[in-house]
Amino acid sequence: MDTGLLFNGYLGKRAHLGVCGSVAAYKAIELARGLQECNVAVSATLTRAAARFVAPLTFTALGVDPVWGDMFQDDADPYAHLAPGRTCHVLAVVPASANVLAKMVHGLADDMLSCQLLAHSGPVLVAPAMNPAMWEAPATRDNVARLRERGVDLVFPDSGKVACGDTGNGRLAPVGAILGHVCRLLSPQDMAGLRVLLTLGPTREKFDPVRFWSNPSTGRMGASLATAAWLRGAEVTVVAGPCSQDLPSGVRRIDVSSAREMDAACRDLWPAMDVACCTAAVADFRPVAFGDAKMKKDAVGPDGFVVHFEQNPDILAGLGAAKRPDQRLIGFAAESHDLDANARGKLERKNLDMIVANPVNVPGAGFAAGTNQVHVYDCRGGRESWPLLAKTEVAWRIWDHLAAI
Ligand code: CTP
Repeated sequence: MDTGLLFNGYLGKRAHLGVCGSVAAYKAIELARGLQECNVAVSATLTRAAARFVAPLTFTALGVDPVWGDMFQDDADPYAHLAPGRTCHVLAVVPASANVLAKMVHGLADDMLSCQLLAHSGPVLVAPAMNPAMWEAPATRDNVARLRERGVDLVFPDSGKVACGDTGNGRLAPVGAILGHVCRLLSPQDMAGLRVLLTLGPTREKFDPVRFWSNPSTGRMGASLATAAWLRGAEVTVVAGPCSQDLPSGVRRIDVSSAREMDAACRDLWPAMDVACCTAAVADFRPVAFGDAKMKKDAVGPDGFVVHFEQNPDILAGLGAAKRPDQRLIGFAAESHDLDANARGKLERKNLDMIVANPVNVPGAGFAAGTNQVHVYDCRGGRESWPLLAKTEVAWRIWDHLAAI
């Protein structure tokens, strides 16, 4: 499982999984493992139908504890139907059948899972999976609408071919997407209401139709910042250069290629944002294009050829120049020397509230690494040096720091 969701914010949190009868029931096992990898303790209840598709023992063997089934087993805790409501921070029904959705709407409590749902007053998430005709049925549509009105978090099913061969909406959403939503329900919502813009990844500057100038940025630091902000309740828009970073399904992503495209997208979006954070490794220069035709190698003589570069827009500086007093702006600075002076210079020149500087020659930090070692400067003259930390942890702390200045 990807470690992109591994934040310390969930330490000590507990999730309860309700598993219904469906071909997709085995995916609840993958979800349980993903939650455990995020340091979330997991318990589960399998309905009688779910236990026909997957064995309760599989969950137990993977450390899911406890695993409940029928209501009146001889050795069962007589208050098991109340336990998740008392001890779990979220109850996630994955996959959720049409039957359990209907029972939730009406408060029916005729088996262990439906009793536990009724007795759980905390956050509830449902990720339905069923035949498309059952999903589109007026009764299901109605039930889903009523559950959403009550604040139940719904992860919509995907469309495609389902197990019986029919095609339509009804496939369980990808486990990674469901995992993100469960983690969001376990996170503090201290960024709720904030509209956050992020740039990430490299840019590509073409010099003929098949060749470009770029850099090895993977967008990992920016993806961690986007994910952390989304988990904490923000409405996040990412303008991404070409990179393969996964982002939570709730994050809006605009893909661009060149610095000028990234600049245009950011200028358009900025007036409607509260915060922007530029992590993209924007190419400062672009080759002056040779035109629309591919450069042929036999057209180049033995002395090679000369490429001329022209300057790209500084996206961060542009946002800084247009910044309103109610907006906050964060920049990054990759420095090989004079880190202090360069970072403070950029903070002031680009009209930033905060700049996160990383020395480019620290082992374990920089492009593609899972960790980063940064120094943080803010517009009030504050300076902090953080130890080498996972990029997810650096991201979480950056949002904490912004809230504190
Ligand atoms: N940045 C940007 N647009 C550019 C160049 C940089 O938005 N054309 C942003 C980066 O996303 C980062 C910050 O500016 O947040 C600093 O980038 P960095 O490469 O460290 O510095 P530069 O401003 O490019 O200056 P220099 O290369 O001289 O260090």
